[in-house]
Amino acid sequence: MKVLLTGGAGYIGSHTAVELLKAGHDVIIADNFSNSKKEVLNRLKEITSVSIPLYEVDVANKEEVEKIFSENKIDAVIHFAGLKAVGESTSIPLKYYRNNIDTTLTLLEVMQEHHVNNFVFSSSATVYGVPEKLPLVEGMPTGCTNPYGWTKLMNEQILTDVAAANPDLSVVLLRYFNPIGAHESGRIGEDPSGIPNNLMPYISQVAIGRRDKVHVYGNDYNTKDGTGVRDYIHVVDLAKGHVAALEYADSHKGTEIFNLGTGNGYSVLEMIETFSRVNQVAVPYEIVARRPGDIDACYANADKAYEKMHWRAEKNLEEMCRDTWKWQSNNPLGYELEK
Ligand code: NAD
Ligand code: UFG
Repeated sequence: MKVLLTGGAGYIGSHTAVELLKAGHDVIIADNFSNSKKEVLNRLKEITSVSIPLYEVDVANKEEVEKIFSENKIDAVIHFAGLKAVGESTSIPLKYYRNNIDTTLTLLEVMQEHHVNNFVFSSSATVYGVPEKLPLVEGMPTGCTNPYGWTKLMNEQILTDVAAANPDLSVVLLRYFNPIGAHESGRIGEDPSGIPNNLMPYISQVAIGRRDKVHVYGNDYNTKDGTGVRDYIHVVDLAKGHVAALEYADSHKGTEIFNLGTGNGYSVLEMIETFSRVNQVAVPYEIVARRPGDIDACYANADKAYEKMHWRAEKNLEEMCRDTWKWQSNNPLGYELEK
């Protein structure tokens, strides 16, 4: 299939591009580089030996998106493009709603005009809100605590409604848990701009000396050691989940939701300890106050993805920590070229 990856220069999109090419698909990337660097394309070429066609566009802009579909015979879209910082979304909600909703609406309109019927969407475990029960199963109640989360849930609703009205359309909603790690080559990885919001990039920036210590947000949660528990998944496993989802969409109509997680929950302290042990690096930390909006624990039941798509995560926490460190230590400043 020829697959358009919106946001394909980003963290998850770039790893998915590699796995799609490996599986024999063709890939086109559309990105406005609002949260990524053009150097990603050079690295993808190094890894895959393919020059991936790039459209530097805002995916909310219909004319620009129209051009991509007119110039290429696209079979499927994987829609990664979106703003993703939970905290920022509470201070500039309008920007989040505009960007994250408009991109989906534009894509759906243009896809309809060009009779493109496969849509895979990057949703998030955040749509489960504060879990009543763990592990999380796809049919459990949803609800959000911040504008970012609402954009994911609203997109899920929009896509479900549009698929219900168009019997030719296939929609796969992928609820990611916590992606970490990097490609085994150490050439692509997560490159947050500014101070990382997420735990793993923060740990690796402390380990490389860019930051003093990890701030552990609270040790009085109702968990094994009091720190927050999450379901961390290797980004390459997650990327392979998209290959499976694409193949599933191509052979099933309607909407389907899948959790993409491992089913294992690790605490913040376990993450710091494992990273430090596996990579033989010091990771100083300090317990500080809870971060507003955080929940005790969140992990998946990922059985449905295995039953229906024959996909499951294969890499363990040690591999996630090792690959994160390979990327971070080979690229201390991320994609910024060394001076
Ligand atoms: P990322 O920021 O690295 O990638 C997103 C890409 O989209 C970036 O390259 C950015 O430049 C691009 N983009 C944003 N708005 C755009 C627009 N209007 N037009 C064109 N390009 C645009 O993020 P990621 O971690 O790779 O996440 C990919 C998707 O997965 C996002 O939708 C995110 O919300 C979702 N998600 C991420 C996580 C996570 O922890 N990383 C968890 C759950 C869901
Ligand atoms: N944490 C710290 N210190 C930090 C960063 C995080 O102690 O510097 C803790 C958090 O309190 C939490 C855990 O580490 O207990 C994980 O936090 P992350 O910010 O890495 O991840 P979250 O689970 O809070 O959220 C992430 C994404 C969301 C997404 C969600 C589910 O940021 O966008 O996973 O996929 F919705």
